[in-house]
Amino acid sequence: MSAALFAAPVPYVPLPARIAVLLSGRGSNFEALAAACAAGRLPAEICLVVSDRSDAQGLSRARERGLFAAGLSAKELGGKAGLEARISELLAERRADLICLAGFMRILSPEFVSRFPYRILNIHPSLLPSFPGLHAQEQAVNYGVRWSGVTVHFVDSGTDTGPIIDQRAVPVLGGDDADSLSARILPMEHGAYVDALAKVLKGGWRIEGRAVVFP
Ligand code: GRF
Repeated sequence: MSAALFAAPVPYVPLPARIAVLLSGRGSNFEALAAACAAGRLPAEICLVVSDRSDAQGLSRARERGLFAAGLSAKELGGKAGLEARISELLAERRADLICLAGFMRILSPEFVSRFPYRILNIHPSLLPSFPGLHAQEQAVNYGVRWSGVTVHFVDSGTDTGPIIDQRAVPVLGGDDADSLSARILPMEHGAYVDALAKVLKGGWRIEGRAVVFP
């Protein structure tokens, strides 16, 4: 067995874990995580929701749940560096253990990511490494693949390239377009994100090469 690059303690962080969610839009994945926390299906609480769009539906959803929610404007904060600096402050103030990206439409800088090794998770609507980046469902339909799906992964400094925590396959059917495929993938995303976060929080996993090895 090769030496692990990283070994997660058990549990990974003190429980209940404090989770920050970064989003830009609808927030259905945030909602799935928040509902799982509220129902005791995840040993965690959402301590912070941040959006780079103050009109994001996800922010309203967070406020309806009484969660700490902040809409930030990169423009008002002097650009990407200012936005990330403010996010970092909020993460520290709210004592976040982990960050879950849930439809956050910005690429975090390598400097930001390197401060949170194996502490940032993302969900992507394809079976990575196929179809990274924007419009993953449209890419899958246009390519003509028979299966696509969802990937939950740790975030590294690339775009959708970090170690994979879990994947679930979804069929692409004849006549599918990006919308119909997205609608089939989305409910799968919600379950996959909750289950992946639960596995991560449990700890005892390790990183070998680029694989996440669970006990
Ligand atoms: C999801 O498809 C997610 O995989 C992708 O962005 C979308 C966000 O949807 N990264 P929602 O805001 O969670 O509803």
